[in-house]
Amino acid sequence: MKKNKFSTKLPVLLASVAVLGAVVAGCGSTSSAPVENTFEDRGRQLFNANCGTCHVLKAAASTGVQGPNLDTAFASAREIGMDEDTIKGIVRAQVIRPQSTDGYGNFPGVTMPANILEGNDLEDVAAYVAAVAGVPGIEPPKAPGEGPGAQIYANNGCGSCHQLAAAQSAGQLGPNLDEVIPGMTEAKIRESIVNPGAVIAPGFPNAMPSDYGTKISAEQLNQLIEFLVTSAAADANG
Ligand code: HEC
Ligand code: HEC
Repeated sequence: MKKNKFSTKLPVLLASVAVLGAVVAGCGSTSSAPVENTFEDRGRQLFNANCGTCHVLKAAASTGVQGPNLDTAFASAREIGMDEDTIKGIVRAQVIRPQSTDGYGNFPGVTMPANILEGNDLEDVAAYVAAVAGVPGIEPPKAPGEGPGAQIYANNGCGSCHQLAAAQSAGQLGPNLDEVIPGMTEAKIRESIVNPGAVIAPGFPNAMPSDYGTKISAEQLNQLIEFLVTSAAADANG
């Protein structure tokens, strides 16, 4: 993936999903994880890795706009008394067999891929969306670490592949960010995130998702880099 093959977005998405699944499954939990509800935690991770690129969902702090805002989609259903099981069924059905109705003229050319998740993963993500979508006043749990960049790091699943003490992440597939960030310029860090295939860190697979440049806004990218630089440096001093 050294050239810009961004036209084949789906295989890239599915490949990174498979990697994430394997890595997330192998992750031990850290001692002081701030989220105690592990069911919602797992559903949220699955959502951010597989759905948040296209959908806004307040509780997951996701910002994708390729598909409908899921809080808006379910707020009125919830208001008129639709129960969680029914909402879960709608979400499950949509993932298995996405419906592209005329009501979604706002999303021309984007089709939700079928069967992004299956089995337990599908059950967990559907239960999660049903529990949180359109709930009045709901807020995302606070990600470990300082500043808005910490949330961006968490939302984009960086921690499933990278170690960074300040974010309480212990992923092993990619380089340990506490070790490598202090030796990198901001320009290098930026390039590693938006164009990871350009330079492959020696001894590591070319396995970092290549679409962060389209998923993370310019402002968010600055905040993420700020978070990496300050927290990795702080850790190196301590
Ligand atoms: C590539 C972008 C994309 C991804 C990834 C995606 N969706 Fe969608 N989703 C859409 C689009 C676009 C629609 C609108 C219907 C259509 O045109 O397919 C939609 C519709 C929906 C709806 C119906 C909303 C309504 O208004 O009734 C739900 C629920 C939903 N998606 C859930 C999910 C879940 C859960 C995931 C992850 C497992 C997911 N989506 C992943 C693009 C996406
Ligand atoms: C699916 C696993 C995966 C995810 C998710 C991931 N990375 Fe990576 N990352 C890697 C791998 C593997 C490498 C080493 C290969 C390379 O250089 O591309 C890497 C390399 C890097 C490097 C360069 C390190 C060096 O020594 O040159 C940085 C910086 C980095 N990642 C930051 C991030 C950030 C920030 C995120 C979240 C926005 C992220 N990564 C998400 C797997 C991942």
